[in-house]
Amino acid sequence: MRRLFLSVIAIAFGFSMFSMSGSAQAQDAATEQAIKYRKSVMTAVRGNFGAMVGIMKGAGNKADLTTHADALVDLSKIASTVFPEGSDFGETTALPVIWEKPEEFAKSMKAFQDAAANLATVAQGGDMAAFGKAFGATGATCKGCHEDFREKKEKRGKK
Ligand code: HEC
Repeated sequence: MRRLFLSVIAIAFGFSMFSMSGSAQAQDAATEQAIKYRKSVMTAVRGNFGAMVGIMKGAGNKADLTTHADALVDLSKIASTVFPEGSDFGETTALPVIWEKPEEFAKSMKAFQDAAANLATVAQGGDMAAFGKAFGATGATCKGCHEDFREKKEKRGKK
């Protein structure tokens, strides 16, 4: 009887250990997914940003600058949701300082959102010189955030 009791405990304990590691695994999978999503969003940001460079250099249609700029505005809003707490380990170049200094990070994110919103407004006007200026200002916000909150290029290799 005592033996049975012990083995029931062992099974219960074993089970709880198992479910604990199961939930840790679920946690890891969720983090991995959050990081993948973040990279996809940033890649979309770069896609629209790069497309505007192409149009400024004469490719495509000038009228589509507004579409890319509007997409950047939407993506800049999504960007503020892709840094959940705890997504600072694994296959990421995001630095822990994002979560250590959330107010500074939020400021950097807001600068990007404001610059993108301004870019979209300027795009409507169709003045290419003004657009070029607003575009440069937007690019500076990417660079600013990457400098402070992303692993340096030398450290992460070519990426
Ligand atoms: C407020 C901060 C912030 C702003 C603004 C920002 N980024 Fe990023 N970006 C990051 C961080 C952090 C990462 C690293 C993500 C990771 O590795 O998990 C990143 C990663 C990237 C990546 C690599 C994605 C990958 O697959 O690893 C590209 C490309 C990129 N950003 C482009 C841009 C461009 C272009 C802009 C501006 C139009 C921009 N970013 C604005 C913080 C920012």
